[in-house]
Amino acid sequence: MKKETLLLLQDAALKQIKEVVNSEALHNVRHTYLSRKSELSILMSQLGRLPNEKRRQFGQLINGVRSAITKAIEEKMALLKAQELTEKLAKEKVDISLPGKGATVGARNPFHIITDEMVEIFLGMGFEIADGPEVESDYFNFELMNIPKDHPARDMQDTFYINESLLLRTHTSPVQARAMQENRGRPLRVICPGKTYRRDDDDVTHSHQFAQIEGLLIDKDINIGHLKATLELFVHKMFGEKRKIRLRSSFFPFTEPSVEVDITCANCSGRGCHMCKGTGYIEILGAGIVHPNVLKMNGYDPEVYSGFAFGIGIERVAILRYDIDDIRKIYQNDVRFLQQFKKVS
Ligand code: DAH
Repeated sequence: MKKETLLLLQDAALKQIKEVVNSEALHNVRHTYLSRKSELSILMSQLGRLPNEKRRQFGQLINGVRSAITKAIEEKMALLKAQELTEKLAKEKVDISLPGKGATVGARNPFHIITDEMVEIFLGMGFEIADGPEVESDYFNFELMNIPKDHPARDMQDTFYINESLLLRTHTSPVQARAMQENRGRPLRVICPGKTYRRDDDDVTHSHQFAQIEGLLIDKDINIGHLKATLELFVHKMFGEKRKIRLRSSFFPFTEPSVEVDITCANCSGRGCHMCKGTGYIEILGAGIVHPNVLKMNGYDPEVYSGFAFGIGIERVAILRYDIDDIRKIYQNDVRFLQQFKKVS
């Protein structure tokens, strides 16, 4: 065992440590010089054969070489790890200047745009939202709306029956009865937006399922002037200040008097054209003064209270507002149709 051999070994190790360029190679160097099978370890195990004095001297020497190599490896390892991390971060950097993939932004269905607008308008006038079931009883849908069993008005509202006494509601009017029964005798101001059903698909303006917003106001001394003012405000907010409304005498079993409400045609401003069939007006809703029978059946004294009611077809308003030529487009979710409503939603 020679001192020179040990120092040569140390030099060789330190040179290699200096030269390695990655941590994997450094691990190999560590294995070569410090593992149990390394030259140093073998020399260490042979120390026992030396006489006492030499053993101490070489023991110190070997330990010195060993710790010099260990220290050099540790320092180099720290350096390489830091370098490798920097390289990794540089490689994984996200290039934010690359053009993105761009998410497709959808558009709201005009049905929902219009429903929300209508609801907002009436909430602004102090109406509250009332709700009722779509699977309704014959009793609420017809009887409590003053349409008894054999009344001819039932013919216009043929629907889908679950059984003898349950059906898919033909209008949102039964919610009037429900709201009245809940509030018995108290002034009332409600709207009810919701789905309605009829066996009705004669043309492109009708569908077996459609939606209405029902309105009902009950208080003392309510007359048709209140109804007209309310609907006029609604029409102005929905279609613009220039639109005029016209009340035309009509018949509904649950109102007396009853009216159909028309607005001036947007296409010709009331002069008459093909859109309004020459009349200058387009019908938008039914309304009237709540029939005394309806008040009585639902817990209000017609001698004390009076009220007005109206029912507006939501799709009808959407069709008129956006000039949609076929009601089915509202339900089909064709993106070419929907995309046109991107800006307005
Ligand atoms: N329920 C009627 C229908 O679906 C619409 C209607 C007319 C509702 C007059 C009303 C009303 O509240 O007063 O044809």
